[in-house]
Amino acid sequence: MIKVDNVTKKYHVGTLDVNALRGVSLEIGEGEFLSIAGPSGSGKTTLLNLIGCLDVSTTGEIYINDVAVSKKNKDELALFRRENLGFVFQTFNLIPVLTAFENVSFALSLLNVDGKELKERTMKLLAEVGLETMEHRFPRELSGGQQQRVAIARALIKEPQIVLADEPTANLDSTTGSEILKLMQELNRKHNTTFIFSTHDKMVMDLAKRLVLLHDGEITSDKRR
Ligand SMILES: Nc1ncnc2c1ncn2[C@@H]1O[C@H](COP(=O)(O)OP(=O)(O)OP(=O)(O)O)[C@@H](O)[C@H]1O
Ligand SMILES: [Mg+2]
Repeated sequence: MIKVDNVTKKYHVGTLDVNALRGVSLEIGEGEFLSIAGPSGSGKTTLLNLIGCLDVSTTGEIYINDVAVSKKNKDELALFRRENLGFVFQTFNLIPVLTAFENVSFALSLLNVDGKELKERTMKLLAEVGLETMEHRFPRELSGGQQQRVAIARALIKEPQIVLADEPTANLDSTTGSEILKLMQELNRKHNTTFIFSTHDKMVMDLAKRLVLLHDGEITSDKRR
């Protein structure tokens, strides 16, 4: 479903070149629950941003459902992201003036989905992430873990094939972090959504079905269990 083919990414900082990825190849199938781990600066965010079509590689190619991402223009990429990908961020990134319900349903409200269906889908998903009674709360009235649950529901509302999460537990205590991971696991099983998440956290790595280790922009290990 996703094929990363010998991808490099070079950033230019002033006169300096930073080789953030040095020839990464990786195939990810439907329904995988995969963690990308490695030390700070190893290229995790860079790789997720490329898979998420938020940035373009320097050389090499990424294919999603056999479509070469580099062949698409900006508008095509934006459409492609909206249709196929969901994102979860380290800092939750909810819209502060919208309630939990509105944060989750926002993307559907842009799509001419009728009111009844919008409400049903949003409430079902809020229930799935354990927030059925909190739909009217604003982000500031929710704990970090609850905010991340809203963010996960938001990522899933359009039933994307792939959810990308860059250190989704980094701002949570370890108990809350493992609850969030278990929730992602459950949603992965139930919907067969592919989850790709990065982490520093050993506990989070241990819950992955497949663990890819990055070091200095290269894959040093790729293990399934
Ligand atoms: N926009 C940028 N401009 C220049 N260099 C960058 C940029 N983004 C990342 N880098 C560099 O690329 C390398 C990989 O960075 P990246 O953010 O992918 O690492 P990471 O594994 O996500 O690290 P962390 O665990 O700290 O989040 C680092 O050396 C970083 O300094
Ligand atoms: Mg990072």
